[in-house]
Amino acid sequence: METVLSGIRSTGNLHIGNYLGALRNFVRMQHDYRCFFFIADLHSLTTHPHPDDFHGNVRRILAQYLAAGIDPEASTLYVQSDVPEITELYLLLNMIAYTGELERTTTFKDKIRLQPGNINAGLLTYPVLMAADILIHRSHKVPVGKDQEQHLELTRVFARRFNNLYQCEVFPEPVAFNFGEELIKVPGLDGSGKMGKSEGNGIYLVEDPKSIRKKVMSAVTDSGPVPGQPMSEPISNLFTILSLVAAPETVRFFEEQYAAGTIRYGDLKKQLSEDIIGFLTPIRERYLSIESDSDYLRKVAALGKDKARESARATLDLVRSAVGFKSF
Ligand code: ADP
Ligand code: TRP
Repeated sequence: METVLSGIRSTGNLHIGNYLGALRNFVRMQHDYRCFFFIADLHSLTTHPHPDDFHGNVRRILAQYLAAGIDPEASTLYVQSDVPEITELYLLLNMIAYTGELERTTTFKDKIRLQPGNINAGLLTYPVLMAADILIHRSHKVPVGKDQEQHLELTRVFARRFNNLYQCEVFPEPVAFNFGEELIKVPGLDGSGKMGKSEGNGIYLVEDPKSIRKKVMSAVTDSGPVPGQPMSEPISNLFTILSLVAAPETVRFFEEQYAAGTIRYGDLKKQLSEDIIGFLTPIRERYLSIESDSDYLRKVAALGKDKARESARATLDLVRSAVGFKSF
């Protein structure tokens, strides 16, 4: 049976970009594959979160995963730092990752631009840790959003290089996955680019309806359709989000109004906020009941840790033997 794995960093709160780009695909796969989902708390350390916040971040994201529909019995749901085998594989993979290829990664180049004061080695080797996350369970499919494509390409490079160097078949070459469709990029409400935590332009999975309405109503638009001109980016972004949360008839209705030049952006936004609210309400309600249940969260994390370590140990034994480690 093929193995599926995905993860999200433990910073901030999950937004609908995380959900529609990665989490929802994972939830749809969890009963048909061998599935792993984890909280990337080690990855979050690149930005030095305050120790007082660190555990709370992990806990909040765990509760949000569960609210989004991950079934901890069907899949293995765990915290990255609970599985030290990942960090050992990270070290071994670092020996076959070249600094040149890491320096050329788009995400690394973006960080140099965005946070020039903190270009640590953890940022440079971020893709190596991500490859270790994926390869430690010998995963085949990785449901992620479009921004992660390059990381997956590097993961395949490392897997292939390891297998060639050590003349073995330990690692499959994993692919970014979205049911045979294009990977998704959910845009933000600010007119351009992707919805993201650092961009601060998102709607969260757990957000009250009033705040959602306010954000959507103040989303960037343009001064109206111009016959013969292509749709502007801010409007096309609103349509993209609508198509992800609303019924196809609703999308068609507004597309027709746009084509006829009679569309009122205020109506489009009202509809969009109601559809987002309808879509998120069950998730928010589940979150509110899970979040305070420390016993349940503790059990989920402990179960996930045991299952994840068992799988990780088996891979690491193969890896260590391929590299030439032997006991005396
Ligand atoms: P963020 O980019 O908000 O900081 P992460 O980097 O932790 O979030 O992303 C976790 C997952 O969510 C990844 O699989 C990523 O591809 C996906 N993701 C994040 N933002 C988007 C988006 N706007 N559209 C589609 N997928 C996204
Ligand atoms: N790099 C991913 C992100 O920023 C998070 C992540 C870490 C991940 N390790 C992973 C995603 C392994 C998929 C598989 O979105």
